[in-house]
Amino acid sequence: MNKIAFKKLAQKNGTPLLIIDHKKIRENYREFKKRLPKVQVYYAIKANPEPEIIKTLYNEGSSFDVASISELRLVLDTLTPLLQRDSISLPDFIWKKIIYANPVKSSDSLPELDIYKPLLTYDSLEEMKKIKFNCPNAGLLLRIKISDNGSLVRFSNKFGIEPEKAAELIEETIKSGLIVEGISFHVGSQCNNFENYIKALESIARIFREVELRGYKIGEEGTRGDPIKQIDIGGGFPVRYNGDEKLFSELARMLNKRFDKLFSEENVDILAEPGRFLVANAGTLITKVILAKHSTKISCYHIDDGIYHTFSAVMYDHFKPKLQAIKDGEKTECYVFGPTCDGLDELSKNEYIYNTSKILLPKLDEGDLIYQENIGAYSNASSTNFNGMPPAKITHINVKT
Ligand SMILES: Cc1ncc(COP(=O)(O)O)c(C=O)c1O
Repeated sequence: MNKIAFKKLAQKNGTPLLIIDHKKIRENYREFKKRLPKVQVYYAIKANPEPEIIKTLYNEGSSFDVASISELRLVLDTLTPLLQRDSISLPDFIWKKIIYANPVKSSDSLPELDIYKPLLTYDSLEEMKKIKFNCPNAGLLLRIKISDNGSLVRFSNKFGIEPEKAAELIEETIKSGLIVEGISFHVGSQCNNFENYIKALESIARIFREVELRGYKIGEEGTRGDPIKQIDIGGGFPVRYNGDEKLFSELARMLNKRFDKLFSEENVDILAEPGRFLVANAGTLITKVILAKHSTKISCYHIDDGIYHTFSAVMYDHFKPKLQAIKDGEKTECYVFGPTCDGLDELSKNEYIYNTSKILLPKLDEGDLIYQENIGAYSNASSTNFNGMPPAKITHINVKT
């Protein structure tokens, strides 16, 4: 899309406006499947839970990763008409196409899922006992701890059992009567250190060998389907925000080589939970200058979206704002503030938020438009109503009907 198209959409819908381009989402999904054909894609809806995105990805063939019972309900409510269209029953859909991949789940969320024998992740004896009590028919993936050095967003401080302890917990889980289907990991989001995926796969191959030594079969048919057969490689697939990030195609080449080297195809099913990769470049935010101050040494622009809204990505996702104006003109340094009464609500370089940097824009006036590309992941998902200001409106373009 070009600046004229952005302007037209802003005039039609008002600002702040998040434009989601579904052509890009379809391209991202197809790119993922083309480069990793053996991997079943579970879109991690936490990255952007917009129902239209869920529908588009369902129509592409995606499965879904949910982090809570309300995310699961959102997927089911959104897709009910499409499941009816495709004659897919709810139990079948949950069984085949949903993973509840939060290693820590509240007890209340589990009993209602038990009849669906859902696929769940866990990473501790305590969570295993909770599942045994509340959802004994689940299939389990044990999440292991993997280095997330080199990833923008880290998880290893919070999740994953040490790989050396994994086989023992798997054995204990099986002895408790639960079904272990496999192992999962997450290298951290926006991973720029592909060795971490490789080390994770090598750890899984070692754990599989150890589990076999304890007398359990890898890849055998079992009650739910395929016990100890699944390898969940999580998310982390990098997006090109700056152009200097490593390429997904390189990661896919490395992964395919390792899949072939470490595992026999009939013995494993591989799945992934991409979030950012599918939606980040599909989102463009259009925001408007609501006050332009030029009486100060450096011009100050107050705009109608900020840190508490779509730019919450700056706080929660280490996002680096790169604002551009629709208007042309010589660019100079300026200060840019969000609309709330909080001083923290600043997008230009400031001492409180480490990932902000200098912003250069042409001279702007009240009503002028500014846009931010590549803001489709972890942005509207964490937007708030702070100061009574609602999240940006969302408009969807290039949706296939
Ligand atoms: C369990 C799990 N899976 C998948 C994802 C998606 O990761 P990404 O957006 O890096 O692909 C996340 C992100 O928080 C996650 O916690």
